[in-house]
Amino acid sequence: MSPFTAEEKEAMKAEAGIAACAFVESGMQIGIGTGSTVKYTILELGRRIREEGLKISGIPTSDATESLSIEQGIPMLNWRDCDYLDLVIDGADEFDPHLHLIKGGGGALLREKIVAESSGGMIVVADASKRVDVLGAFPLPIEVNPYGWEQTKRRIESLCSGTVELRGPDYRTDNGNPILDAHFGPNISDPIQMEADLRAIAGVVEVGLFTNTADVVVLAAPGGCELIRKPTARL
Ligand code: 5RP
Repeated sequence: MSPFTAEEKEAMKAEAGIAACAFVESGMQIGIGTGSTVKYTILELGRRIREEGLKISGIPTSDATESLSIEQGIPMLNWRDCDYLDLVIDGADEFDPHLHLIKGGGGALLREKIVAESSGGMIVVADASKRVDVLGAFPLPIEVNPYGWEQTKRRIESLCSGTVELRGPDYRTDNGNPILDAHFGPNISDPIQMEADLRAIAGVVEVGLFTNTADVVVLAAPGGCELIRKPTARL
């Protein structure tokens, strides 16, 4: 059970989401993540555009993020005109001491990975409940092709000691694909190998393990905000 109340968690999300905006400067093209923490980043960027004249543009990682970003007055780019982003700000469901992540609780993992891989740096916004020693307590989201998803599920099960569940019979990502949530338990000791093994299964579109991708975690805890930087951080 989480040691934090819902109010404490919401306050931490707001603090992390807003603090990450310190990395954003006029002239930048940014990736905009998805989720209830990044929501505060989008609201803060909108405020800076309106009140401080901040000039940025962005690529969203989900339809929901696109709608909120447009509502907040953030100019949107698309991949026809953009081949590089200065940085991306995104949330995570878990991060470990090496800043490897589980993402995709909100179902946007494929677009989030495309955006992260196209960015000059990745900033993760997280509250203290997301920090773990070993990944896997949060069920690992895996986006799969609808064709033969039952067989893809069996093949994922052969790598996973726990259960693998279809995220709702009618659930589809923004890309029209189902998601399988794999219950590994807190024992993904080699996330780099696991990401590679899962991606090697035909039918797997993308895996919610983001290894060697994040540079900085903006971590909000009840006592305040902390920046955790990887030794090789690009930002
Ligand atoms: C969506 C994600 C989110 O970043 C992740 O689920 C964290 O979301 P939240 O900030 O709402 O806890 O990966 O696909």
